[in-house]
Amino acid sequence: MNMQPLEEFSSTSKIPLSVASANSEMPFGIDEMFFSKTDKRGVIDAFNSVFLRVSGFGAEELHGAPHKILRHHDMPQAVFWLLWNGLQNGHPVGAYVKNKTKNGKFYWVFALAAPVENGYFSVRIKPSSDLYLQVVELYKEIRTAELSENLTAEESARRLLLRLAEMGFPNYSWFQSTAFCTEFEARQNAMKLPTMPDVVNTQKVSQLTSDLQHELNALAVEFDSAEILTANMKIFAAKLDQGRATINEIAKNYDLMLRDIQYHLKTLLTPPRASGIWASPEEKKANFMLCGYHLLDEVVQGYIRENAQHGAEELHQIDMLRSGYKAQSDSAVDDCVKSALTVRRRIDFLLRMVLGLSTIRIACRVEAGSLSKSAQGLDTIIGRLDSFHDTIEARMVKIQDLVTNILQCIGKSEH
Ligand SMILES: Cc1cc2nc3c(=O)[nH]c(=O)nc-3n(C[C@H](O)[C@H](O)[C@H](O)COP(=O)(O)O)c2cc1C
Repeated sequence: MNMQPLEEFSSTSKIPLSVASANSEMPFGIDEMFFSKTDKRGVIDAFNSVFLRVSGFGAEELHGAPHKILRHHDMPQAVFWLLWNGLQNGHPVGAYVKNKTKNGKFYWVFALAAPVENGYFSVRIKPSSDLYLQVVELYKEIRTAELSENLTAEESARRLLLRLAEMGFPNYSWFQSTAFCTEFEARQNAMKLPTMPDVVNTQKVSQLTSDLQHELNALAVEFDSAEILTANMKIFAAKLDQGRATINEIAKNYDLMLRDIQYHLKTLLTPPRASGIWASPEEKKANFMLCGYHLLDEVVQGYIRENAQHGAEELHQIDMLRSGYKAQSDSAVDDCVKSALTVRRRIDFLLRMVLGLSTIRIACRVEAGSLSKSAQGLDTIIGRLDSFHDTIEARMVKIQDLVTNILQCIGKSEH
């Protein structure tokens, strides 16, 4: 069937578009799932029965029609800019979408769209989480800005990304991974299905990995803040008549070792994790791909039921996508294990260096003891050094515990 513009579909509809229907929602079940396949231009060439029923179009109307026949006026063009940007750069894209049926009703979906050979494949589920409700409000705000400020699709996408960052999602990839897993889990709960252990585990790994990164950053900040203590020690030494050279030497040695530790620690801090719209940390990628794999598994089962006699080509493509997502999720999990083991090795090494640092601190205390009254100010500095050591040692133990928990979650307890 040839592509037809949206206007034709509206004018041929038997049901007039009315305010009443535009404001009413087209119902569908939480257990239902729609999918469609398009060519590279977004022209529909395959779909399932749920897609057909909910959209309200006839099969002959959908075949060969552009996907935008479902476009709802409330949808920010920012979302479609991101959708196409991701797909054309080879990334799967997850997005909340408000669609319009043939007779003007609306329905919301969470859609996963992905590049396949000769086009794109998309699968949609009913969103039901709290995040979805927040996104509905966010879309209203972005759409209003688009219209009132006359923003281009790209400008509007930048605005959307900024707002997502304010909500705690450093980039779109991060957001879509969280949204997909949240909707996947909410749907499982609503359908009273047991939670999937692998999904729960990768989510735990994701949380632990972000806690680990937070602790490593906090540790680096602690080390940076210790620089002032050695600077103070040197200033204090300069005022001393007796013991000046020794205290100065101790401060210098402490300072040198501190900088060495800071250098090694920096290698553990991952480079800015949020650079680029589609950059994704391994743990987020693992989550996204795993939910994709499970959803596609459901699509495959549904496809076999619906198209027992035909559609072998599409089925093959979905099946390839499904196994590809599983492989990518597994490999992302392996990378998480590798990173966790690197952190463990380096923190063990740093703990030994901190032991050396501690020896210098003790030498400082012994020297201060021999200086009697003139070294009273030094006690305060040594007291601060003591609490610095308590803090960093506690943080390093916490880091090792987080690594252990990550490895346990993945089932690789000790290496
Ligand atoms: C696989 C795939 C699925 C799509 N699904 C939808 C959809 O459900 N609803 C929609 O409005 N647009 C969908 N689009 C995007 C449309 O092609 C189009 O970009 C969008 O409706 C905005 O149209 P406009 O850019 O002409 O305003 C999809 C595109 C692809 C490639």
